[in-house]
Amino acid sequence: MQESNDSSGASSLESRYFLAQAVAEHAGVMALDLFRRRDQLVIESKGIQDMVSAADRDVEHYIKGQIRAVFVADGFFGEEGGADFDDAEYVWVVDPIDGTACFVNGMHSWCVSIAILYRGQPVIGVVYDPNANELFHARTGGGAFCGAKALHVHPGQSLKDGVLGVGTSFRVGVDDFIPFLNAVLNDEGMFIRNGSGALMIAYVAAGRLIGYFEPHMNAWDALAGFVLVMEAGGRCNAFMENNGLMQGNAVVVGNPAVWRMIAQHAGLPSIKHLEVATGDDWPHLGNGIPPTAFRR
Ligand code: IPD
Ligand code: CA
Ligand code: CA
Repeated sequence: MQESNDSSGASSLESRYFLAQAVAEHAGVMALDLFRRRDQLVIESKGIQDMVSAADRDVEHYIKGQIRAVFVADGFFGEEGGADFDDAEYVWVVDPIDGTACFVNGMHSWCVSIAILYRGQPVIGVVYDPNANELFHARTGGGAFCGAKALHVHPGQSLKDGVLGVGTSFRVGVDDFIPFLNAVLNDEGMFIRNGSGALMIAYVAAGRLIGYFEPHMNAWDALAGFVLVMEAGGRCNAFMENNGLMQGNAVVVGNPAVWRMIAQHAGLPSIKHLEVATGDDWPHLGNGIPPTAFRR
């Protein structure tokens, strides 16, 4: 099947949505096989506490090949291979293995994360966890799901009512993160870090976590989860601001009741949230799909 990427009709978006799910699942199975033979992998360092192996590169290469075999003109932006897009209408933003530290150390919190941007805004998000065989998927206006089950964010009204996901890296300073934990604990909240930010953001969509904060994530870590959280009734920050696609940004997501409180504890009290565009200024993405998309 070959299809040009110059159409914004239903088949265009829907077929990308289905392809994203199928490719994420196949890539996850491929990664799981490599995970079970990880003693044969050579692990390299990309920076402080930032590892990579042939598994990350091979899985990304596989995903890119599958996408380009169908949508030859779509853009691609992967963690390992970087940006390969100019003014493509659709851009696939991919982390082949999110949670590499877990992967190389034999822990099970890792996933494949695929987001698709349409004219610069995330409209499809797919996160596949092959260890749990859970496929989280969403597209704008279509709801968020784990398999066939509809997802809804946590119903809690305060941080005391649930558990927060957190993450950090040496891309930021220690002081960009530790004060957040202090504030959360003083507010009788609790936190978990499982090593895969993409998976934890999917857990926010699934209502397992009440929210998530990380001072800096890259687009391939965050954008699939953002579509999931928005479609599950949650709130996310305006990640694409300040060139977030290329440079990354802070990540503040949660249910609408606690989102602003998470931002305050993160020292980002006036951070903007994404809004769902429901007006006529966003093109219809196809038959039966309401004209909703995310905009700043
Ligand atoms: C990392 C994970 C981690 C998050 C980091 C990411 P990687 O991605 O999502 O949970 O805290 O910011 O870089 O390196 O495992 O793909
Ligand atoms: Ca990642
Ligand atoms: Ca990765």
